[in-house]
Amino acid sequence: MKLLRQTIEFTTLTLGKLKRNQRCKVQLGQVVKVNLGCGLAIASGWVNIDGSLNALVANLPPFIHRLAYRMTGSNRYYTEDVYCNLLGNNRFIHHDLAAGIPLNDAVADYTYSSHFVEHLFRRDAEHLLAEMCRVLKPGGKARISVPDLEFAVSLYAAGEKEKMLTQYFFNDDEDNHYSRHKYMYDFPMIVELLLRAGFREVRRCSFAQGSVPDIDILDNRPEDSLYVEAIK
Ligand SMILES: C[S@@+](CC[C@H](N)C(=O)[O-])C[C@H]1O[C@@H](n2cnc3c(N)ncnc32)[C@H](O)[C@@H]1O
Repeated sequence: MKLLRQTIEFTTLTLGKLKRNQRCKVQLGQVVKVNLGCGLAIASGWVNIDGSLNALVANLPPFIHRLAYRMTGSNRYYTEDVYCNLLGNNRFIHHDLAAGIPLNDAVADYTYSSHFVEHLFRRDAEHLLAEMCRVLKPGGKARISVPDLEFAVSLYAAGEKEKMLTQYFFNDDEDNHYSRHKYMYDFPMIVELLLRAGFREVRRCSFAQGSVPDIDILDNRPEDSLYVEAIK
C-alpha cells in the first residue's frame, strides 16, 4: 500500500501553488488543458478557472451546490441536476484572472478562453495573454474567442444602436461585476496582443474548427465571435 502511494506521488505533478482544496495534480505525461474564464461552458478533462461563485463552491460538498444553485443566475440556464453534475464532476479553480494564472510555468498543453478576455481591462488582458504564454509548454496552443468588435460596430451601421451598446459596450449585470465588458477587440488587435505576449503563428479560425481539443463542445456564439489560435 505504502509503495503504491509513493508510486502515485512520483508520477503526479502539482500544477501550481493553490489553496489546499484547489490543488490539482496531473499524471506525468497527461495532456493538460486549461479553460480560462470558463463559466459553466466546460468539457470533461479540463482544468477550469473562473472568479464566479460557481467556481468558488465547486470544491465544496454537494449539498452546497444545491444551495448555490438557488443563488446564482445559473438557474436561468440549467436544471438543478445538470448544474450539480457540472460542479461535482469537473475540476474548478476559483481565482481572479486579472491577477494572472495560478499555475506553474510550462505545465499546460492547451489553454482555451471563450468570451472572457473582453471582461478584463486592456492592461489586465495584456498581462493575461502573457500569463497564457508562460503556463503553456513550448509548442503549446492557445485558442481565444471574443465578441468581434467589427461585428459590434456593424450593428451601428445597420441601425441597431441599442443592441450594439447594451450587448457589447455597456452590457452590465448588477448582480455580477465580472459580467461587464471592459474592452473590445477586432482581429488585428488580438493578433498584435498575442504576438506581444510572446506567441507565434497566430491564425484566425472558424467556429468549432481548429487544433485545440473539444472545441465542438466549448465554442459558442458563432454569430458574433472571433476565433483565434496561437502557438507558443
Ligand atoms: C461571458 S462569460 C463566458 C463564459 C464561458 N467561457 C462561455 O464561453 O460561455 C465570462 C466569464 O468570465 C468570468 N470572469 C470575468 N472576469 C473575470 C476575472 N477577472 N477573473 C476570473 N473570471 C472572470 C466570469 O465569471 C464569467 O464566467
